[in-house]
Amino acid sequence: MVTGGCGYIGSHTVVALIENGFEVLILDDLSNSNKEVLDRIKTITGTRPKLLEVDLKNSFLCDNMFCYNKNIEAVIHFAAHKAVSESVEKPLMYYHNNLYALINVLVAMEKYNINNFIFSSSATVYGNPEILPITEQNKTQRPFSPYGNTKKVAEEIIADITNSNKDFTAISLRYFNPIGAHDSGQLGELPNGIPNNLMPYITQTAVGVRETLSVFGNDYPTKDGTPIRDYIHVIDLAEAHVIAVQRLLENKQETSFETFNLGTGNGYSVLEIINTFQKVINQKINYTITERRPGDVPILYSDIAFAKEKLGWVAKRNLENMISTAWKWEQNYRQEQN
Ligand code: UFG
Repeated sequence: MVTGGCGYIGSHTVVALIENGFEVLILDDLSNSNKEVLDRIKTITGTRPKLLEVDLKNSFLCDNMFCYNKNIEAVIHFAAHKAVSESVEKPLMYYHNNLYALINVLVAMEKYNINNFIFSSSATVYGNPEILPITEQNKTQRPFSPYGNTKKVAEEIIADITNSNKDFTAISLRYFNPIGAHDSGQLGELPNGIPNNLMPYITQTAVGVRETLSVFGNDYPTKDGTPIRDYIHVIDLAEAHVIAVQRLLENKQETSFETFNLGTGNGYSVLEIINTFQKVINQKINYTITERRPGDVPILYSDIAFAKEKLGWVAKRNLENMISTAWKWEQNYRQEQN
């Protein structure tokens, strides 16, 4: 069962699961995604996964999903709101949606005795880290946004459950900055409205949907003054989920709740991303330096050793590939709309 399986990371993970022989059931309320993703998944894999359209905040409906689908072996839980700035404006909406859905899923899993759980977490749980690169041993801090805090609180809830229920096992995957798209150009990131994140803003500017990209501050303590992030290809991320599910199903986990960072270990500044993008697509984009965005930290990049050692997973795709696939997707999508 993949909750949020029609979303950006969810849909790429569904493709990777199908390609690895899994039968997938998607639960999604389509609040930030579209049913047509199922056709795209079918074009890529030959299989159209089953979708149950459901709001997991509703405990009765959530229970029904498990009651009528008795052969679920594992749950990957992506379903959540994810816009940082929106969560600052509407914190209750974020706590309500992200935590109710999580708790309803966990309650149903306990009731129907399903014990393998993968959680979609974020590097935001490290706050502004004192030690770089960030290892899983870095202390977590209160994230700067309610969105981020839902991820931190969720991990604490899951930890409590794995402590109390000896059969229940979970893996939390802490993503750095997922970008890129499927090689086919059939699947990619499609944010609702004005993009919050850097890469979709860049591709939409390049394709002419946005006029100018704002670079939020160039006075950070970094080489060129713009913040540094660890960008990771969404397909690498999807593959890590397949490995994590297999680890739980084969009982290979060393503790009942494991957490892994998913990044490449490389940090790129905003200007480096823009420059590489311009080189890869051989086109200039309009950008201007503006004020800092509240809540941004200067530098985040991952230590990749733990995931490599325990999961045998490393990200394989480089920045040029992340950018060219994101660009291919943006162009394909806009052509389809015309
Ligand atoms: N940026 C710009 N202009 C934009 C958008 C972003 O300059 O239009 C900059 C940001 O200031 C930041 C960098 O690009 O320095 C990356 O920003 P993103 O919004 O793409 O990514 P974040 O690192 O802010 O956010 C990511 C995830 C969140 C998560 C957060 C935690 O998208 O889900 O990391 O740090 F909560």
